[in-house]
Amino acid sequence: MVDSSELLFYINGKKIVERNADPEEVLLSFLRRKVGLTGAKSACGGGGCGACTVMVSRYDHSQERVIHYTVTACLQPIVTLHGAAVVTVEGIGSTKTKLHPVQERIAKAHGSQCGFCTPGMVMSMYTLLRTTPQPSMEDIREALAGNLCRCTGYRPIIDGFKTFCDAQSSGCCGSGKCCRENGAEDSNDSDLSEQLFLQDHFLPLDPTQDLIFPPELMIKAQQRSGHVLCFRGARVSLKAPSDLPQLLELKSRHPEAPLLLGNTTLGPNLQVKGQHSPLLIYAGRVTELSRVEWSKNGLSIGAGSSLSRLKGELERAVQQTEEELSAGFRALLLTLQSLAGKQIRNMATVGGNIMSANPKYDLCSVLAALDCTLDICSEDGTRTVALDEDMFRGFGQTILRPEEVLLSLHVPYSRAGEYVAAFRQAQRRELAFSIVNAGMKVSLHGDANTIESLRIFYGGVGPTLVRPALTCQRLMGRSWGEELLSEACSALTEEVRVPASVPGGQAEYRKTLALSFFYKFYLYVMEEMRARGVSGARVPEEHLSALTPFRNQVPQGAQSFQLVSQSQSSFDPVGRPSMHCSGLEQATGEAKYYDDLPPVHGELFVHMVTSTRAHAKVINIDPSRALQMPGVVSFISATDVPGSNQRLWFNTVEEIFTEREVVCVGQIVGALVAESRDQARRAAARIHVTYEDLQPVLFTIQDAIKHNSYFEPKRKLERGHVDAAMETAEHVLEDELYMGGQEHFYMETQGLIAVPRGESDEMDLYVGTQHAAFTQELVSHALGVCSNKITCHVKRLGGGFGGKVMKIAALSAITAVAALKTGKAVRCCLDRGDDMLITGGRHPFLGKYKVGYNSDGTIVAADITYYSNGGCTLDESAFIMDKALLHMDNAYRIPHLRGRGLVCRTHLPSYTAFRGFGGPQGLTVMESVLYEVAVRCGLPPEKVRQVNMYQGDLCYTHHMQAFCPVDMLRCWDQCLQRAGYESRLRDIQHFNSQNRWKKRGIAVLPQKFGVGFSKGFYNQGAALVNIYKDGSVLVSHGGTEMGQGIHTKALQVASRVLRVPMSSIFIKETCTGNVPNAAPSAASFGTDAVGMAVKDACETLMRRLQPVMDKSPENSWKQWVNEAYFQKISLSATGFFMGPPTDVDWEKGEGDAYYYFTFGACCSEVEIDCLTGDHKNIRTDIVMDVGRSLNPALDIGQVEGGFVQGLGLYTIEELHFSPDGTLLTRGASQYKIPALCDVPAEFNVHLLANAENPHAIYMSKGIGEPPVFFGATVFFAIKSAIAAARSDTGLSAVFPLSSPATAARIRMSCEDQFTHMAASSTEKASSPWCIDV
Ligand SMILES: Cc1cc2nc3c(=O)[nH]c(=O)nc-3n(C[C@H](O)[C@H](O)[C@H](O)COP(=O)(O)OP(=O)(O)OC[C@H]3O[C@@H](n4cnc5c(N)ncnc54)[C@H](O)[C@@H]3O)c2cc1C
Ligand code: FES
Ligand code: FES
Repeated sequence: MVDSSELLFYINGKKIVERNADPEEVLLSFLRRKVGLTGAKSACGGGGCGACTVMVSRYDHSQERVIHYTVTACLQPIVTLHGAAVVTVEGIGSTKTKLHPVQERIAKAHGSQCGFCTPGMVMSMYTLLRTTPQPSMEDIREALAGNLCRCTGYRPIIDGFKTFCDAQSSGCCGSGKCCRENGAEDSNDSDLSEQLFLQDHFLPLDPTQDLIFPPELMIKAQQRSGHVLCFRGARVSLKAPSDLPQLLELKSRHPEAPLLLGNTTLGPNLQVKGQHSPLLIYAGRVTELSRVEWSKNGLSIGAGSSLSRLKGELERAVQQTEEELSAGFRALLLTLQSLAGKQIRNMATVGGNIMSANPKYDLCSVLAALDCTLDICSEDGTRTVALDEDMFRGFGQTILRPEEVLLSLHVPYSRAGEYVAAFRQAQRRELAFSIVNAGMKVSLHGDANTIESLRIFYGGVGPTLVRPALTCQRLMGRSWGEELLSEACSALTEEVRVPASVPGGQAEYRKTLALSFFYKFYLYVMEEMRARGVSGARVPEEHLSALTPFRNQVPQGAQSFQLVSQSQSSFDPVGRPSMHCSGLEQATGEAKYYDDLPPVHGELFVHMVTSTRAHAKVINIDPSRALQMPGVVSFISATDVPGSNQRLWFNTVEEIFTEREVVCVGQIVGALVAESRDQARRAAARIHVTYEDLQPVLFTIQDAIKHNSYFEPKRKLERGHVDAAMETAEHVLEDELYMGGQEHFYMETQGLIAVPRGESDEMDLYVGTQHAAFTQELVSHALGVCSNKITCHVKRLGGGFGGKVMKIAALSAITAVAALKTGKAVRCCLDRGDDMLITGGRHPFLGKYKVGYNSDGTIVAADITYYSNGGCTLDESAFIMDKALLHMDNAYRIPHLRGRGLVCRTHLPSYTAFRGFGGPQGLTVMESVLYEVAVRCGLPPEKVRQVNMYQGDLCYTHHMQAFCPVDMLRCWDQCLQRAGYESRLRDIQHFNSQNRWKKRGIAVLPQKFGVGFSKGFYNQGAALVNIYKDGSVLVSHGGTEMGQGIHTKALQVASRVLRVPMSSIFIKETCTGNVPNAAPSAASFGTDAVGMAVKDACETLMRRLQPVMDKSPENSWKQWVNEAYFQKISLSATGFFMGPPTDVDWEKGEGDAYYYFTFGACCSEVEIDCLTGDHKNIRTDIVMDVGRSLNPALDIGQVEGGFVQGLGLYTIEELHFSPDGTLLTRGASQYKIPALCDVPAEFNVHLLANAENPHAIYMSKGIGEPPVFFGATVFFAIKSAIAAARSDTGLSAVFPLSSPATAARIRMSCEDQFTHMAASSTEKASSPWCIDV
């Protein structure tokens, strides 16, 4: 065997030479573990989120220049970087040297909340500027489409980056009437501001600051080595030939070795499915594979060319070529534009896409329709084959012999008389695999426009590319017209048989899409024929809407807030939009999250071993095979827990490790400890658990209802006399609404490092928890030591959203047990798939209701039963159900109201807290009641809402809590006014009457949301403030920083009280050693509790300092502090806040459940594509009452981010469980959170002016949770758009629609001839692919 070659590349201008590079090592782990550069983050590990984005530069032989492009470091094997230069976020600027303007602007524009996505965003933007110093908004949109953010709602990121655009393109939303004018129009208040940050002092873009491409690499690239490089790792070797003969020779010697190009298919397969091959052949150095040639016949592009290269070539060609000849290129471009994100298109190759033979991939259907051919070669020679259905043998299989290589693809010019189109529909418009894709081409001949040839190809309707050949044959010679359409549809209905077992399920929807796409194609050809002057036939005007694609736009909008009073000191930061205090560190990659901490000497890794059965007795756990694997140190399970193996919380018990019986797939049965995380992961897969299945096995709410399987307590709240009042109502309606669950998808997965201190049982935990005290408590129970020996440190979280309160405590206990047993530091960092499997999410809810109402829309009585799917243990489900019930009245005074709450016990992973904590579900069911009543009364829903709304100065909720609804009503009125609701409603009605296949809808909802914990004792806060002799101040408090800005607000409070600038005050971390027994940072209450406690501590200090200050008022702060020190005055104080008693007497159904209410109103407009189910969020206006905002920039950030998270909840985020209870959606490629394309094109947020809240710190209000519910405005807007579509076919506006309103649900609710054809011809699956839980 040849020795390993030397791998040479650069990172941030520094030469890296690796003598034993492992082909399995990807750049991300290399940067983070070996180089110590932790700026690039790992959030999905599969190319689907952009958190690990870095820039790669290399000399491109085919283009003879250095090219710069983004890649996702998690998929980039280091051995493929030979000769490349990598730039990471640390390489472009830092707070210690000089910031890069991109870093500065994202931070100052408030585009970084938790900061976990920020380095990736920065690198996408930085790379764009390296290639396009004056980008357009479209360039920015494209550059960021592959980067996900779970916190901000994207708008502030765009606001920061658009300052790099040239003046013309940065200004406006392009919606006709300017969004800024819209906002300002309604405001007479001179003290309103729309300026959240100042651009005046922004650093200019200075290209001389950029690292140059290393001259050594340039010289080496031009010299070109002719050797085969060889890299050998422990499991995998890789050979990298430099030319085609070498490649073919290697392929003939090792036909079984896969070719590696971009690694965007192989990489995820390796990481997610654990597949690996002992030998890989890397073909990225073979220049023959990246040749691009244009000839009179069209484009020949090497199979090794990236999709970005293909896109660039086509874009140029389309501009230079006659329209008719470039028709096929345009269709292909349309597909490429929405295929993955920019990073993936930069890495993924044309050949890889085709050869992956995956029907979800988009290229094959359109390339096949275009009559493309492939050149395939081996040592025996070259052959040319057509790219069509015969090319594929099945999923992942092609006709290529193992020794053959795909050399190039030929894409011909279109010819006169040819019409081409490509279609795709995905869960999300960008960065999502298609559900169905299609390519279609027809050649028409003569005056009669008869079909000379017709090519139709579908992906996503079977295991491989599908061509309805009989249909195409049957239509030959027919004229393109209406008769053809019906014949084609019935032939397609007959021929395209989507098997019920199709991967991904939804056979009927897929079939409908196949037909709808053809219909779109039919219309497109009709229109094109008219445009080309070959036919006079016109498509009816109202049908043309089928052809206008949704344009992805960069969100624009206005944000307004009230300025502080002029009398406020200019040094006092309270009430001003102040940047997140770690914004700059987050933007430079300096901010540290738990997994960024450097390895502790001898550190080990732990990987969880989880149950594969939903309900079974554990007969035996056999770790023997795993223990023999290299690097494995130990296997731990329940017997290793020295203390208690139980998590006790409010008298509910949950096992840390399963002892005898598993109750869900994903339950932790043990944990594997090894020297590296890969070793731990691989060995964990070898643990053999023997089960004996048990009955019953319940997954869905319906299963639980049938088996009467509920947790205690069962709750009931009632006001008035519901049954009697129901009798008096003019009408009674019974219906239900199902709302699916939601995955937190915080960008940073759960984990920690447990470090035993080696004496007195002490252990430190560096942990991503929202509830450090609970984690400390559970770890001490598990280890059997006192809490004073366990210290939890929380620097910051990469997002929490409620998901890091409970489960992280059990993970911490397991990791601590591993650390105790091995005596070494142990690191736990869940993979995204495991995080999604193990940690649970938002509860699915079913609301069944009976409502009595009068014809004017007045609700007389309502009786709602809420069922939540609690999963296998109670966790926080009971409190979440309480919150749903306590919010069921929302903004409405319903005189007779009854709510019952039942938490279903099922065999799914336990559901847990999630931003809103049951509030959104409770509110949504009530809003559904009002919507359905409005539909039945034939009244606009907002009128029915108004009729039922709380009015006056003093009202009582259904649980008899007094409140004043005036500010809620102000929000409602201002929202209607600012949104221009009335006139837009008329416009929408007009639009809908003119368009058959696109419909618009609008919805406006009010909100009353309770702040604080209904468990009253949690409403407390504590802080410790130390002043040092140099005058600097260290604040500690019990809250955790997870992006919401709690530290920034605490600094603002301290700065006001101490009268020192924020820059002199520091918050290091949250630490159980400094502030004990703190409540979780949750319930929108963090700032209220912490702010008051910090204020209290600072006031104590100021009282102590006052005599010193009075004595020498001319002195400086530092002098006073020094003087106090010499006078032996304590410069350290604790602060405490005892919130008011909140509690509900559930027997009586009464009580002050909340501290106060946050109010708001939101209006959203959407447009749906009735043929595909796609939708576009056109505009959203929110007016929010946050009292006197402590920091308008942070509060607006919470509103926007919460809304966008809600938008995901109600439209695109869908979890799938298999019929045996296994979570199928386990990663960024299966589960779609909102991306940039989902944010409303116009997004306006206004903080209600002149609002005050006497109950909380400086008159502010908690805001973390409420905005999530506003995503429901999009749901109801979609529902009314669907109703408009249904009315065109004479269908009732009464129809069921579950949340989320996914593309499939929207499409199938817009019933028409295509859905009927699909329904009649799709066989029903004997067992569904997935179940609604
Ligand atoms: C996050 C993400 C999102 C994506 N979204 C989309 C999407 O929306 N639409 C879509 O169509 N695709 C999508 N993809 C898939 C992507 O386009 C393909 O993974 C990519 O094109 C494969 O190219 P590659 O160079 O990375 O192949 P690799 O992963 O390197 O190889 C893939 C397979 O092809 C074989 N192969 C590669 N080149 C050749 C050759 N020249 N001759 C013979 N065999 C060869 C390899 O042996 C291997 O089996 C996405 C991928 C990711 C990671
Ligand atoms: S971690 Fe690499 S793209 Fe998500
Ligand atoms: S700031 Fe983007 S994920 Fe948190």
